[in-house]
Formats: sequence, C-alpha cells, structure tokens
Amino acid sequence: MSLKQDILFELEKNRGADTSGQSLAERFGVSRTAVWKAVQALRAEGHDVLSGLNRGYRLSENDDRLSPAGVAQALLPEYRSLPVRVYHTLDSTNLEAARLLSAGEPCPMLVLSEEQTAGRGRLGRTFYSPEGTGLYMTLVLRPHIRLSEAALLTTAAAVAVVQAVEALTDNRPAIKWVNDVYLGDRKLCGILTEATGDFETGSVENVRVGIGVNVRTRDFPSPLNRTACSLDRANTTRNRLAAEIVNRLLPLAARLPDRAFLEDYREHSLVIGREVAFSREGQTRRALAVAIDDAGGLVLRHADGSLETLRAGEISVQL
Ligand code: BTN
Repeated sequence: MSLKQDILFELEKNRGADTSGQSLAERFGVSRTAVWKAVQALRAEGHDVLSGLNRGYRLSENDDRLSPAGVAQALLPEYRSLPVRVYHTLDSTNLEAARLLSAGEPCPMLVLSEEQTAGRGRLGRTFYSPEGTGLYMTLVLRPHIRLSEAALLTTAAAVAVVQAVEALTDNRPAIKWVNDVYLGDRKLCGILTEATGDFETGSVENVRVGIGVNVRTRDFPSPLNRTACSLDRANTTRNRLAAEIVNRLLPLAARLPDRAFLEDYREHSLVIGREVAFSREGQTRRALAVAIDDAGGLVLRHADGSLETLRAGEISVQL
C-alpha cells in the first residue's frame, strides 16, 4: 500500500482516538512533514481527518469514504492481501472487473466505486447507484466449480450479505428468491453474478459477484421510492460492510459444493410458505413456495398438488 493508505490503515485502526504524527513517522520511517502531506492528500480525497495542536490525527467517526485501507482494516488476517480497487466513478463495478481481468489483473480481487453511472441489474435492468450512499462492489473469484454451479455463488452471496448486515447492524434482512435481500417489504440489496467459462468443458474461468447495497440512500427516484429501502440506522461504514461480506463470501465460495450455507438461506427465506406469482409463456401463474432444494431451486406446489422447481427467473410475492 502507499504511505497514504498505510497511514489511513492506522487511523482506521484507532478510529475515534488520536494517533500522533511522530508515531506515524517512526512507524513508516518517514518525516513528520511527509506524514502531514499524506494526511493533506487524504483530506483532498474527501477523508475527514481531524487534527489539533499537540493532538495528532484522528479519523472522524463520520468518515465513510471508501478506501483500500478501510476495507483491509476490517478483513480477516487471511484475506488482508486481497487486492482492493476503489474508484470514484465507474459505469459498473462488474464491467470494470471484466476489463481488469482482460488486462491481466489478478484474481481474486475486489472492485468498489463511490458511484456507478450504469449500474447493472438482473434481466437487463439498471441498479440505482448514487454517490457515497450505497455500497457497489464486485468480488472477482476463480472458484473450482462447474459452470452449472455458478448460480450457487449468487445464493451464497445473498447469505453473506444477510450475515454481514446482521453482524454489523440491528437490521434483520430476509432473502427473496433468487437473490434479492429485503428489509420488510422493500429491497435493500441486489446481486448480479456474471461468469466467464467454457461451455464445451463446463469449466469456470472467473466469476464476478456484483453486490449493491443501499446503505444510506434516501431519495430514490420513482418507482424505486415505493419498492427500495436503505439500512435502518446504518451505524457502520461501507468499508466495513464490504469487508464483512468478503469475510463471509470467500469461505462460502471455497466450500460451495458442501452447500452448508443453504440452511442459512432457507432460514432467511422470505418466500417459503407464501403464494408466489411467476410468468410462464406470457401467462401469470400462482403456486405455493414450499422449499429451496439443494441446487438453490425454488420448489412450488400447485393447486392440484403437483410439484415444480424453478431454477431461474423472477417471482413476485405479496409481502
Ligand atoms: C439486481 O437487483 O437486479 C442486481 C443488482 C446488482 C447491482 C450491483 S452494484 C455492484 C455491481 N455492479 C453492477 O453494475 N451491478 C452490481
């Protein structure tokens, strides 16, 4: 990491408390002037670094800028070397991840942006991604799975998001099949997983797991203002939320075939036991959602008692 990010890492660690310029200078083997210059550069980037006479530096409790150091600080030690790319503006973190991979960048890797101008959703939709109030991240992985199992990563990602939100906040989200995370009857988070692989052999080259969480977005444009929501009392930073999602998703992805996370997915399901509607050949059909199977499919019971399993697509549910 650069001196700037090294200093930010220390300030993150001592967030809310003072760190003397002298101790930072000694720790990184630079002059106090170099520390001061790095702090000025961090401020120019928008970080809220406070300082006072003989007080040293401190990162304000309100600082919520995304940074590689802020994410690294909250990553488990075994993941701390994960390359983290942070941008101010991108079209889409998923698209940037694909470009970085084409340019030979390493895998795994995490891509974050303060805003997205063309955030992508499932089924060709867009994902509203205003500056500074949401978490827009793509985790790039090279999992040892078959192409046919790649969809399970999305299921695992939904579980990782729910676990991270529950660990960091008082919010209790639920999962609407396939992979939307809800608070009450509103959507908090969407997940778009894109994979590159070889259809002939069924092997996976890489997977880009794109996750968008509305952390503090308040003014959603219509029609989102009736369907979307943000965290209720988001007393966490977006860096920490990103890191906690990664801390949970990386081990789940490594053990994907054992499907242990499906238990947590089922416990958080918003749809099991409810009537759902889905579209088939242009017609809306209704059935009772009864289970999530071991491949992440949604098992439905029709009025005549017959069972059917949906593998992909979209359902709606009256919440
Ligand atoms: C959906 O709700 O249909 C999925 C939305 C996924 C949005 C995230 S935000 C980060 C990543 N980059 C994108 O362009 N999309 C995903």
